[in-house]
Amino acid sequence: MEKITFQVAPGEAVGIIGPNGAGKTTLLKAILGLVRPRQGKIDLMGHPQPYPPGVQKKIGYLPQQPRFERHFPFLSSDVVATGLLTPSSLLRPLSSRQRARAMEALTAVGMGNQGDTPFSRLSGGEQQRVLLARALVRKPELLLLDEPSSGLDFTGRVNFFKLLQQIQQECRLTVLLVSHDLPAVARFAPTLIAINRIKHLHGSAREVLQDHRLADLYRRRFSSPNREEPALG
Ligand SMILES: Nc1ncnc2c1ncn2[C@@H]1O[C@H](COP(=O)(O)OP(=O)(O)OP(=O)(O)O)[C@@H](O)[C@H]1O
Ligand SMILES: [Mg+2]
Repeated sequence: MEKITFQVAPGEAVGIIGPNGAGKTTLLKAILGLVRPRQGKIDLMGHPQPYPPGVQKKIGYLPQQPRFERHFPFLSSDVVATGLLTPSSLLRPLSSRQRARAMEALTAVGMGNQGDTPFSRLSGGEQQRVLLARALVRKPELLLLDEPSSGLDFTGRVNFFKLLQQIQQECRLTVLLVSHDLPAVARFAPTLIAINRIKHLHGSAREVLQDHRLADLYRRRFSSPNREEPALG
């Protein structure tokens, strides 16, 4: 990715859209510090990368395809509690405080009565809510969501975004939401950023969705990540 520059204010909800392979997941991973940008820089909460200790803990992340085995015999509360683990606490049994925090996060997503239900027995929509609880369990300031509604039916998507909006507003969370569900993103996020490797559009949801360059941005397929082309804005 090149020439992609933007700022997000605390408490802002921003949708990130763009075609397959545009670099949306890579962008989130770069913000997390999981992949290092070849050039350019990323500041988070006033800190350049590598972030000082503690900053990464302020980010909640719901990955595109959670590496989580959806059929693994974990209880829902265990899945949420994995969001609290650190390398040093990995092999220790969960403390009662960790369990309580997991239950609190499950309650926040309306799954407080399902803590003891095996994760594999939940519906796709319920699993997504548990994974949202996992991303929220550290009470992050920034929440990164990568295609959180894929695999959900219409009602599931509507309910998921409703819940997300409620949590975002109550907790004044900063949210970056990647999704191919353009109507849902536009309803959730007042601001959109459309990217395709080296191009981007940034503006209100209406401006971006009505921009004549958006169709071109979606049509463009990149064979090489280094191909030079002027950025759109
Ligand atoms: N660590 C990496 N180093 C170099 N290239 C990468 C790396 N990770 C991903 N890519 C490449 O960057 C491109 C963008 O991938 P990315 O997964 O970010 O797209 P995306 O916009 O999330 O697509 P989708 O909508 O399909 O999820 C792909 O061609 C991918 O192979
Ligand atoms: Mg992706």
